[in-house]
Amino acid sequence: MSRLIINGGNRLNGELEISSSKNAYLPILAGCILSDGKVTLHRYPNYTDTDNMCNILKHLGGKIERHNDILEVDCSSLSKYDIPTDLAMVVRSSIFALGAIISRFRRAKVAYPGGCEIGSRPIDIHLSGLRQLGVKIVEKHGYIYCDGNNMHNANIVLDFPSVGATENLMMASVLVKGETVLYNCAKEPEIVDLQNFLNILGAKVSGAGTDRIIINGVKKLGGGEYTPIRDRIIAGTYIIACAMCGGDVLLKGANPLFLHSLISKIDKYACQIECEYDKIRVKSLGKPLSLGKVETAVYPGFPTDLQAQILALQTISSGSCMIVENLFESRFKQVPELIKMGASIHIKDRIAIVKGVDKLFGADVIATDLRGSASLVLAGLSAEGYTTLNSTKFIDRGYERIEEELSQLGGDIKRVED
Ligand code: UD1
Repeated sequence: MSRLIINGGNRLNGELEISSSKNAYLPILAGCILSDGKVTLHRYPNYTDTDNMCNILKHLGGKIERHNDILEVDCSSLSKYDIPTDLAMVVRSSIFALGAIISRFRRAKVAYPGGCEIGSRPIDIHLSGLRQLGVKIVEKHGYIYCDGNNMHNANIVLDFPSVGATENLMMASVLVKGETVLYNCAKEPEIVDLQNFLNILGAKVSGAGTDRIIINGVKKLGGGEYTPIRDRIIAGTYIIACAMCGGDVLLKGANPLFLHSLISKIDKYACQIECEYDKIRVKSLGKPLSLGKVETAVYPGFPTDLQAQILALQTISSGSCMIVENLFESRFKQVPELIKMGASIHIKDRIAIVKGVDKLFGADVIATDLRGSASLVLAGLSAEGYTTLNSTKFIDRGYERIEEELSQLGGDIKRVED
């Protein structure tokens, strides 16, 4: 158990290299299940979510070796096709492994995924797509039993452009004979990254990044080497941190195109942003202005994973702002903690009305999800006095020792192990 202690008020200055994307790495690790050869992945990040996905691969019989930030994954001789409850509970993305396991073994037994802290997170779109690929599915005793002996290609229209379902169905159909076409797909950059990775291993996938993905089944996938993209949500978090704390920060490795919805929203209002191909420079502009209305949407819309951070920014803006959360129903759980720090926020269903205050004050706060934790860290960094974040359990799922990165920029933040 560890906590973060933040002494707010420091400006942030300097350079930071952005880590690999958690949401790209997770499906790519699941994709290794499809490979008969050795896969080398570069820039492996220190997130507990990715470590837990590695534990799933090990449970299935995969061999994993890590040399600094290089991960060698060998799934050539997998012996199991199940994911037990204890492994599925700790990482929701365990569900991504389902498509890959069925594709490889033509059967799977997977416990329901955990991670319901931001809403109910159903998996009906995943299961409906698998059924359309010919998978027989029985749900009983907390497990999803799949029989893929009669799998066949299909044209599948997703009810909603779910990121996870798009990725799952891509992987499920990679080893299925014939052409499978997925319609109404999610278009996130991480899906393009998964396509690029699978194609390196010998898959024939095209169209990722659009709403129509075409998978031409191949007999098997071999090994290969790949470097996943950087984490756009971490980059976005630090852009907002600089806007809140003041300062001048250069984020290296971050692709500004993937953050267009954030950058176009806050540039000139909360900070000044200069972009190069893989660099983002953020200079604060003093007190942030109101952003008016921010509404989350599927990519390329404003990411739900940056909603909590932008809400924190608006607590110290010079006006009122409306934040609308369209993706997940319980994504304002950090709000009572921000109110404890002096913020003025009113919630009704999926809408938060934020009235900017002069400043926040440090407090002991409790986090219940990953991005909510990040928003409380940002609030603490900009507040007057000390803030204690009660647990790092959630933030460690998707940030690599956030206290070290923010200290590198001049933030006064440290981890205390209990
Ligand atoms: C992924 C991201 C997560 C991000 C989310 C939305 C990963 C590992 N996680 O999560 O960080 O917040 O996209 O950008 O990439 N839905 C259904 N039925 C389904 C599947 C989804 O109703 O079968 C709904 C969800 O409840 C939610 C919406 O679709 O309201 C979007 O969810 P989805 O895109 O699937 O999110 P994840 O893939 O779980």
